[in-house]
Amino acid sequence: MVRHVSMASLKLMLLFFILSFLDFNTCKAQEQSTDPVFLYHSCSGGNTTANSAYQLNLGTLLSSLSSNASTEFSNNTVGTSSSDRVYGLFMCRGDVPSTLCHQCVFNATRRLRSECSLAKQAVIWYDECTVRYSNRSFFSTVDIRPRIALLNTANISNQESFMTLLFRTINTTADEAANFPMGVKKYATKEATISGFQSLYCLAQCTPDLSPRDCRSCLSGVIGDLPWCCQGKQGGRVLYPSCNVRYELYPFYRQATPAPSPSPSPPLLPPPTSANSQGGGGISAGTIVANLVPISVALLLLIVGICFLSRRARKKPGSVMEGKNVDDITTVESLQFGFSTIEAATNNFSADNKLGEGGFGEVFKGTLPSGQEIAVKRLSKSSRQGGEEFKNEVVVVAKLQHRNLVRLLGFCLQGEEKILVYEYVPNKSLDYTLFDREKQSELDWRRRYKIIQGTARGIQYLHEDSRLRIIHRDLKASNILLDSDMNPKISDFGMARIFGVDQTQGNTDRIVGTYGYMAPEYAMHGEFSVKSDVYSFGVLLLEIISGKKNSSFYQTDGVEDLLSYAWLLWKDGTPLELMDPTLRESYDQNKIIRSIHIGLLCVQEDPEYRPTMATIVLMLASNSVTLPTPKRPAFFIHRGTDATMPKGQQFDQSMTISLPMTINEVSITEMDPR
Ligand SMILES: *[C@@H]1O[C@H](CO)[C@@H](O)[C@H](O)[C@H]1NC(C)=O
Ligand SMILES: *[C@@H]1O[C@H](CO)[C@@H](O)[C@H](O)[C@H]1NC(C)=O
Ligand SMILES: *[C@@H]1O[C@H](CO)[C@@H](O)[C@H](O)[C@H]1NC(C)=O
Ligand SMILES: *[C@@H]1O[C@H](CO)[C@@H](O)[C@H](O)[C@H]1NC(C)=O
Ligand SMILES: *[C@@H]1O[C@H](CO)[C@@H](O)[C@H](O)[C@H]1NC(C)=O
Ligand SMILES: *[C@@H]1O[C@H](CO)[C@@H](O)[C@H](O)[C@H]1NC(C)=O
Ligand SMILES: *[C@@H]1O[C@H](CO)[C@@H](O)[C@H](O)[C@H]1NC(C)=O
Repeated sequence: MVRHVSMASLKLMLLFFILSFLDFNTCKAQEQSTDPVFLYHSCSGGNTTANSAYQLNLGTLLSSLSSNASTEFSNNTVGTSSSDRVYGLFMCRGDVPSTLCHQCVFNATRRLRSECSLAKQAVIWYDECTVRYSNRSFFSTVDIRPRIALLNTANISNQESFMTLLFRTINTTADEAANFPMGVKKYATKEATISGFQSLYCLAQCTPDLSPRDCRSCLSGVIGDLPWCCQGKQGGRVLYPSCNVRYELYPFYRQATPAPSPSPSPPLLPPPTSANSQGGGGISAGTIVANLVPISVALLLLIVGICFLSRRARKKPGSVMEGKNVDDITTVESLQFGFSTIEAATNNFSADNKLGEGGFGEVFKGTLPSGQEIAVKRLSKSSRQGGEEFKNEVVVVAKLQHRNLVRLLGFCLQGEEKILVYEYVPNKSLDYTLFDREKQSELDWRRRYKIIQGTARGIQYLHEDSRLRIIHRDLKASNILLDSDMNPKISDFGMARIFGVDQTQGNTDRIVGTYGYMAPEYAMHGEFSVKSDVYSFGVLLLEIISGKKNSSFYQTDGVEDLLSYAWLLWKDGTPLELMDPTLRESYDQNKIIRSIHIGLLCVQEDPEYRPTMATIVLMLASNSVTLPTPKRPAFFIHRGTDATMPKGQQFDQSMTISLPMTINEVSITEMDPR
C-alpha cells in the first residue's frame, strides 16, 4: 500500500516535470511522438571520393551532432588538416522539445548520409530543425545560399492591408529574435490580430552563433524575399542556412505556457518569449485577449487533470482496462445474465424504467442485486443473428474497452429474446443537453472540447487500437452518452456485428446510419469505411460548436444545412459566427476556429481528403500539427455565382505544405556545380 502511494506520487511528480517542459496542448501529442517533417535538402560543393579522409571525418561529425542533440544548437569541427576538415552544426526550432529535436537531428543526419553521401557541403531543412555541413568554416558568418521558400497556396483576402500588417509584425519579430546576445537562442514569435476572429502568427529564428547585427541582416534578407514568394498568400516561409521566417493564419509553433515553469532552463534558453498580441482589432478582440489568459490557465489545469486521470485510470485495478489484458477473462459464461435477473433489475421492463428507444430496440434502466446500475437494451426481433453467432459477437464487442466507450457488460439470451447489458451512464445523451435551449448553456466550451476530444479518442480506438477494426456507422449526438463528469462515452458501437449485418465487406445493402450524419458515399452507395465515421464525427463536431442539429437546420438566408453554413462562414472569414451564442462567456477563439477547421476537413466530399481519426486526435491535442486547407464539404449547396463554376475548380486549393520552390527561378539542385 505504501509502495502504491509513493509510486502514484512519483508518477504525479514525473508528470508535472514532463509537463513543465511542454506546451500544455501537447500532452497527447507527446505520447504519440510526432515525426519530424522533412522539407528540403541541398547538396553542393562537388563530389568527394568514397572512403576519403573527408568522408570519414564527415561521418564522425554527423554522428557527434546527432548524439549532441539534447541541446537546441551545437556546432562541431572534425579533422586535423585543412584539406579534410569538416564543419557542421544543427539548430532546432526554438519551441521544439528536446526529444523531438533529437529525433529531428537524428533523422536529418541519416538522410544527409544517404542523400548527399559524396557532397562536400549540404544543408537540410525540416520543420523542426536545420542541419548543415561544409568544408569551409562558416560559424558566425551569415550564409544566404542556398535558399528555399514554401508557401501556403490559399489566397488572402484584403491583400494590401494584410501585407502591411505582415511586414510590420514580422519586422518586430525579427528585431526581437536578433536582439538576443551571441550564443543565446535567437528565436521569437509574435501574434497579431487581423480582425476580431483571425490572427497572424509569425516566427523568426537565426542560428545562435550569429551576432545580433548579422542575425538582423540575415532576417532582412529572408523578409525581403517574402513578397517575392508569398505575396497575397495565407502563409509562407523563407529558409536560408543561417536564418528563417514563417507566417501563417494559425499557430504553427508551440506557444509559451502561461504557467510559471519550475524546470531548470537549459543553458542556451533565454527567458520565454511570449506570443504577444498587437495591432488593432475590433471591439471584441480586447475581450477575447482578456479572456484568453484565465481560460488557458483553466485549460492547463484541465489537461493536466485529464492526462493525470487517464494515466491513473490505466493503472487503477478494477477500472476500465484497455485492450489486450481483458481477453483472457472474457468468456461467454462470464458475460451471460439470466433472464430473471434482467426482469428483476428492470422491474419487468416497466415503462418507468424505460430510458429510450433506438434503432435496435428499447432501452431500460436497471439495478442489479449488487446495487450496480445497468442499461438494458432489448433488441427488436428483426435481428437476423442466430443464438451462437450472437454470443460470439457479444464476446468480441465486450472486449472493446476504452474510457470513451460505453462498456458492454454482458447479454441475455432467452428464446427469441436477445438483450444487451451495458454500464449505466447517468447524464443522458449529448443531444439531450446540446440541442436544448434551456440546457445547452450547461455545456461550456471547456466541456464541449472535452467531449470532442474524448469522442475522437473513442472512435480512434475502435478504428485502430482494438485489434478488430470496428466501424461505428451510426455516430451521432444521441449515441454519445455523458457520465457524471460529463465525459463522453460512445454507445451502440459494434451493433452491426451483434445485429447480424455483414461487417467484413465495405458495402452493404442495409444502411444503419442516421440522416444528416451519413457520408455521401455511404448514404448513396452503401459504401462504408473508417472515413464514413470520420464524416459523421465532423458533423457531430460542428453540431457541438454551433449547438444546432444538422438534420433540422434552417437559416433565414436560405442555407439548407449546417455544413454549408459552416463552409460559407469559413469562406467569408467569419467562422466564429458558427459558434453557439451561449459559448460567448467561455470560449477560446483559436481552439474554436481550429475545431471548425478540423470539422470541415472531416466532411470533405472525397473520403481520401478526410483525415484519419488518429490524425484528428493529434490535431485536437496539438496546435503544432499543420491543418490542410479544407475544400467545399459534401452536400454543399451552390449559391449565386458559385453555381456557374465548374465543379471542383472554384475551391480547389492545395494542401498547406506545398512544393518547395526556389527563388530566382532556379531550382536548387540545378545550382550545384556540374
Ligand atoms: C557536443 O558538442 C560540444 C561542443 O559543441 C563538444 O565539445 C562535444 O564533444 C560534443 N559531444 C559529442 C558527444 O560529440
Ligand atoms: C562553434 O562556433 C564557434 C563560433 O561561433 C567557434 O568559436 C567554436 O570553435 C565552434 N566549436 C566547434 C567545436 O567547432
Ligand atoms: C526519418 O523519418 C521518416 C519519416 O518519419 C522515416 O520514414 C525515415 O525512416 C526516418 N529515417 C531515418 C534515417 O531515421
Ligand atoms: C571546399 O570544396 C570546394 C569544392 O571542392 C573547393 O573549391 C573549396 O576551395 C573548398 N574550400 C575550402 C576552404 O577548403
Ligand atoms: C520591414 O523590414 C524591411 C527590411 O528590413 C523593410 O524594407 C520594410 O520597410 C520594413 N517594413 C516595415 C513595415 O517596417
Ligand atoms: C489565388 O489568386 C490567384 C491570382 O489572384 C489565382 O490565380 C489563384 O487561382 C488563386 N488561388 C486560389 C487557391 O484561390
Ligand atoms: C556526384 O555524384 C553524384 C552521385 O554519385 C553524380 O550523380 C554526380 O554527377 C556527381 N557530380 C560530380 C560533379 O561528379
